[in-house]
Amino acid sequence: MNLTPIVAGNWKMHKTPSEGASFIELTKNLLLDIEHVSVIFAPPFTGLFDLNVKPPFYSAAQNCHWEQTGAFTGEISVSMIRDCGAEFVIIGHSERRHVFGESDEWINRKVKAVLAGNMKPILCIGELLNQREAGQTELVLKSQLEQGLAGVEALENIVIAYEPVWAIGTGVTANANQVESAHSSVRNILKELYPESDTIHVLYGGSVKSGNAEELIQIPGVNGFLIGGASLDVESFASITRTVETVQLRTL
Ligand code: PGA
Repeated sequence: MNLTPIVAGNWKMHKTPSEGASFIELTKNLLLDIEHVSVIFAPPFTGLFDLNVKPPFYSAAQNCHWEQTGAFTGEISVSMIRDCGAEFVIIGHSERRHVFGESDEWINRKVKAVLAGNMKPILCIGELLNQREAGQTELVLKSQLEQGLAGVEALENIVIAYEPVWAIGTGVTANANQVESAHSSVRNILKELYPESDTIHVLYGGSVKSGNAEELIQIPGVNGFLIGGASLDVESFASITRTVETVQLRTL
């Protein structure tokens, strides 16, 4: 199955709404002829409203709450995000898990809320360095997938992002063998849970840059990227997207 790859930029807590809107215009202008890659911008909540994007460009929120409305000071619901025109929501990013203490149970509630709101979760999973060193990578991925997807009947609207925590924002990229073996574990775990899982995207994230994108996108099982740092710069983000399109065109 030849999936259209996804290049998603997670801006984290960067860019004001006006900076974000002009960044998106500049990026789109550099990528006018892109046809074989889906490009997702994930600004902070304040920059999500009324963005001028249409396929192959999409927008995503970086988080959400699982309830529709209610007394949840500081939270944002799925319907609020959808009303902004976004199609995706990043759930369970390692910073949500490890800086803000989100549990697999919360992440699961969020995944289900996003699906119930007819939006698409980008579920992030990944091991810490000490877990990798203890040989627990596959166990961690299995547990995060099983718990994150508990009660989810079908995978069709879900994107998975494998992001080894030790490679996020550190400049250290997992090597090709590590990425290939983690992606193959993810595929095997998903296949046990959902027979149709071949049709879903599994992205790689962790220090993806224009210099390593070509190697990483060719690793079997990698269907695109979730990018932090390099997604904040128009030239790098556009160049990574172009690389992914070029490699994809070779396979068509
Ligand atoms: P990075 O971040 O590309 O800066 O390593 C990736 C992410 O947090 O999704």
